[in-house]
Amino acid sequence: MEFQGKSFLAEKDFNQQELHYLIDLSQHLKALKKQNIPHRYLEGKNIALLFEKTSTRTRAAFTVATVDLGAHPEFLGANDIQLGKKESVEDTAKVLGSMFDGIEFRGSSQQVVELLAEHSGVPVWNGLTDEWHPTQMIADFLTIQENFGKVEGINLVYVGDGRNNVARSLLITGAILGTNVRIVAPKELYPEQELIQLANDYANKSGAEIIVTDDVVQGVRHADVLYTDVWVSMGEEAKFAERIEQLLPYQVNQQMLDLTDNEQVIFLHCLPAFHDQETDYGKEIAETFGLSEMEVTDDVFRSKHAKQFEQAENRMHSIKAVMAATLGNLFIPKY
Ligand code: CP
Ligand code: NVA
Repeated sequence: MEFQGKSFLAEKDFNQQELHYLIDLSQHLKALKKQNIPHRYLEGKNIALLFEKTSTRTRAAFTVATVDLGAHPEFLGANDIQLGKKESVEDTAKVLGSMFDGIEFRGSSQQVVELLAEHSGVPVWNGLTDEWHPTQMIADFLTIQENFGKVEGINLVYVGDGRNNVARSLLITGAILGTNVRIVAPKELYPEQELIQLANDYANKSGAEIIVTDDVVQGVRHADVLYTDVWVSMGEEAKFAERIEQLLPYQVNQQMLDLTDNEQVIFLHCLPAFHDQETDYGKEIAETFGLSEMEVTDDVFRSKHAKQFEQAENRMHSIKAVMAATLGNLFIPKY
């Protein structure tokens, strides 16, 4: 395993052992935090947090994790810097890399985060692009490990928009880790064929079973984890009408929980979620489409199966692990 100086841009850049290490390190750092034991592996460093898209969890997690690790976080929002408007990604990367020790980037383009990594000379961490959401994955598989004691052989069923960043990341991460991944989505929203092929290649090695289906009854049966995400991702806001029509049969509700035939099933959601009318979008959707909940019903969201807030807390511990492993002065065995 080699983490020092490496960027975290997509899960496929890491092997099974490395992903396990990051999950286990997250669990360890979580335990230290709970016991108030200092873990200042980034003492004196400076971290740039670039957010082209909005965020609650990722921004909060990177900020708190940076401070806990003894470093200084600097938030640079879309309107704060020249990136892309007046200055190229390459030039920005060179400047930021000469001042900061690590860079987080959230935005639309995977190419931008890759260019930042190529030209900055410091570790770059992907805080979400349209293609991948890798830091989310370490938190999600940590949550699965905490709930089931393992990730291998667990049936992880993702229902909803099968081609968004979270679905794509779950498919690849699960395949690498030996978690059985089912993507349950309408055919128009299946992950692209090359990605399914890549997942199957990993699954052949890890023993994971990969299924992509539009059949809800078969798809969710014996799920250990029922996972969903928003029907309309950031940047796609014009697509609400189309997605509601496509995805209403894929709403996570009590009937779907019953179809899992598993009393121990847990519900996960990367958040934010549309489960009531307590948001501007929620109200607008209710007025326009007469729909009071979208991807998950409020009763499931508040049920004993729901673990999404534990999952959200785990974002902080896992982002801390990613930063500490790639930039910190901690000993990592090279077995
Ligand atoms: N899950 C997640 O990435 O949340 P934010 O968009 O609030 O960062
Ligand atoms: N698929 C969602 C994830 C948000 C964390 C989006 O990209 O908006």
